Amino acid sequence: MKQLLIVYHSRTGGTRQMAEAAAAAAAGESDVEVQLIAAADTEPQHVLDADGYIFATPENLAAMAGMMKHFFDRTYYAVLDRIAGRAYATLICAGSDGENAARQVARIATGWRLRAIADPVIVCTHAQTPEAILAAKTIGEKDLERCREIGRQLAAGLAMGIY
Ligand SMILES: Cc1cc2nc3c(=O)[nH]c(=O)nc-3n(C[C@H](O)[C@H](O)[C@H](O)COP(=O)(O)O)c2cc1C
Repeated sequence: MKQLLIVYHSRTGGTRQMAEAAAAAAAGESDVEVQLIAAADTEPQHVLDADGYIFATPENLAAMAGMMKHFFDRTYYAVLDRIAGRAYATLICAGSDGENAARQVARIATGWRLRAIADPVIVCTHAQTPEAILAAKTIGEKDLERCREIGRQLAAGLAMGIY
């Protein structure tokens, strides 16, 4: 049984919905066990035990969310050189941009020698005013499907032994 670990952080629900969509789609693959864990609760052992990863984070202040960065800070050296070659994908929930958060995740994944299986999925919620930023987010069906596709692709590749 292969394991897919989905690590996420979400404050107003957008990233959580994206991660849950990817997890549900990946769970359709019978030979893959999916773990969806909040960044704050993810430990190095979770990372070591998994065969593939999805990292899902909001973009805040042109960077990945602090909780997600804290996850990488806590686990980076504990797993370095022990997970090289494993597959990963990235989901970013952003107000209007998202590119820099995606770049930051990619840079850390390069340090771990992970293999990106797809371009990052960036979903923009168009939140720009203080009220809209704080409001609960609802991710549209089309964008959720983009996240499901990542979950399906990664899980299928793990099941087939491609990744
Ligand atoms: C402090 C803060 C800073 C933000 N900075 C950015 C930013 O630099 N670029 C961007 O596209 N969105 C930015 N946003 C918008 C969030 O990415 C957006 O609200 C997203 O939906 C948050 O994800 P969540 O719903 O999973 O919490 C920011 C939000 C907050 C609260």
